[in-house]
Amino acid sequence: VRAGDTLHRFPLMKIRGIPLMEHIAQNWSSIWAFRPDPSDLLISTYPKAGTTWTQEIVDLLLNNGDPDVSKRAPIPVRIPFLEIFSPPPIPSGLDLLKDMDPPRVIKTHLPIQLVPEGFWENKCKVIYVARNAKDNLVSYYHFDRMNQTQPEPGPWDGYIRKFMKGDLGWGSWYDHVKGYWKERERRNILYLFYEDMKENPRQEIIRIMKYLDLSLSDDIIDRIVQLTSFKAMKDNPMANYSFMPKPVFDQSISPFMRKGEVGDWANHFSPEQAKVFDEDYTRQMEGVDIPFRSNI
Ligand code: A3P
Repeated sequence: VRAGDTLHRFPLMKIRGIPLMEHIAQNWSSIWAFRPDPSDLLISTYPKAGTTWTQEIVDLLLNNGDPDVSKRAPIPVRIPFLEIFSPPPIPSGLDLLKDMDPPRVIKTHLPIQLVPEGFWENKCKVIYVARNAKDNLVSYYHFDRMNQTQPEPGPWDGYIRKFMKGDLGWGSWYDHVKGYWKERERRNILYLFYEDMKENPRQEIIRIMKYLDLSLSDDIIDRIVQLTSFKAMKDNPMANYSFMPKPVFDQSISPFMRKGEVGDWANHFSPEQAKVFDEDYTRQMEGVDIPFRSNI
């Protein structure tokens, strides 16, 4: 969206079979042509799996836990969103990246086969965060209600079916989590789970620190645990997306930092809906053993 364009809920358009928001699909050739530097780091997720949380952790790890670092600019300015041509005031990911020197941290929601090939050719580090399907779905549903550029979520029951069919922005959750899982060893992807981060944030922060070849003191790690808690991030205007104008993110409908819990799905799915979902899940996830937990 360029200044002057009216804001609207973008329809989805398929690129190589994957539904993407229209403005991403229309700019696809320049996104696909992006060449990272070998020192760049990619944080990849299916939408609503814990992207912002991981971005905040990584930014603090790379900056020695300096609390001012996470206050210096909105998170999508500190860590550009590769494929987004955002509504104002955030410039497009590609424009931001043009003006940044490597090493950069870059966010994407692209499924693995749509990640620009330079990331693999240059052996960039990649952190992937996955979240159990039902909580991920609930979070995406509330996000689609409040983000006025995403397609209309429609009624809850129909939203569950869209998720199961992969008819949402960035496509099928099932294919997304499986795609990265199958390649994680060959491509040296650090594959993390939202539920592990919730259960033991310190342990997962240390895991990320080691992957980044950093070694920080216990005190600094403790501080990063504090600064990246749900509460601290909800209170940080540079992390809680309050910088997005209300016509774009209407947080009076649902806040960006909504609940930040594992198992909130049980407050949304009826027993019948959960049964249908779980049966379909077994089919879609057959033959892959990714250790997801829907409760901790
Ligand atoms: P809920 O909607 O379940 O609350 P993303 O950053 O990928 O868009 O994901 C957003 C989800 O992560 C939201 O989930 C949000 O509340 C949650 N989240 C963000 N920061 C968090 C934190 N520090 N701890 C736990 N959850 C967090």
